[in-house]
Amino acid sequence: MKQIQMTQNPSFSLISTKKIIQMSNVWTSYDSKNFALEGINLSIDRGTNYAIIGQSGSGKSTLLKLMNGMMIPSKGTIKIDYTSPDMNNKKFKKMMHTIGYIPQNLGLVKNITVLENTLLGALPRLTKIQSLFKKFPEHEIQEAKRILKLVGLTGKENRKAYLLSGGEKRRVAIARALMQKPTILLADEVVSELDNVTAHDIMNLIADAQKRMNLTAIMVHHDMQLALEYANRVAVITKGQKILEIGVEGETIVDFQTGDMSTEEIMEMYDVNSKQ
Ligand SMILES: Nc1ncnc2c1ncn2[C@@H]1O[C@H](COP(=O)(O)OP(=O)(O)OP(=O)(O)O)[C@@H](O)[C@H]1O
Ligand SMILES: [Mg+2]
Repeated sequence: MKQIQMTQNPSFSLISTKKIIQMSNVWTSYDSKNFALEGINLSIDRGTNYAIIGQSGSGKSTLLKLMNGMMIPSKGTIKIDYTSPDMNNKKFKKMMHTIGYIPQNLGLVKNITVLENTLLGALPRLTKIQSLFKKFPEHEIQEAKRILKLVGLTGKENRKAYLLSGGEKRRVAIARALMQKPTILLADEVVSELDNVTAHDIMNLIADAQKRMNLTAIMVHHDMQLALEYANRVAVITKGQKILEIGVEGETIVDFQTGDMSTEEIMEMYDVNSKQ
């Protein structure tokens, strides 16, 4: 009885569901010698558009891999929606299906069509038999077509993935992730190396989906300008450490991590680190 009263209290449920990702003093390594990430602390509110930026090799992809349970920390704690991202954790395994992950190499299956690649996002919803024969119900096929329309790929449903342009491949990867009906979208450089117009098109698409689905998007970027334009918060990673967490407030850039740096100091610091 007591529990029912607590969950019915709106202010309680608001507090208990606000943080979707929490990392506390997280260290991780690929081998026993070097740490790829050192002492990462971060806290992301549900519905946020969060960006991660930093030099090549600084640990951005590693950070995303920790958020979807592909890697586990050597030290520290991670909670994704109050659950440890660990493949051995049953609760997380169930939740994993609602984490849309777009890896840096996109992970498309080259020899199957755009529609088939998109439908892969619905695999966890199929019964064992349907999944064995890759027999997707009609309503899932219609949903995939609807999402492909959303990402501007109507007419290309039956084209093999290897025949697509770079921008089109990225759109398919986004479509497959949206097909998962995700609560969290992890996207690793999905707009890098694209022309400015296509990059903005894709970012607008994600921002749009975010509003409609109350999605939390965590995106790795190369371009600081683009990151600041779309993200509520931008984490700057250097050599495995989070050195800044910035966001735009009115006309200024604020560092929420140290709280006492000016816009000029922040940009100077980012420049210094990007020249290393
Ligand atoms: N599978 C792996 N085995 C060993 N070391 C790895 C592996 N993957 C990444 N690393 C190392 O971990 C560090 C962080 O790599 P990560 O891929 O996270 O960097 P990144 O910031 O995503 O770089 P980029 O911008 O080039 O994609 C690097 O020093 C890299 O060499
Ligand atoms: Mg990377």
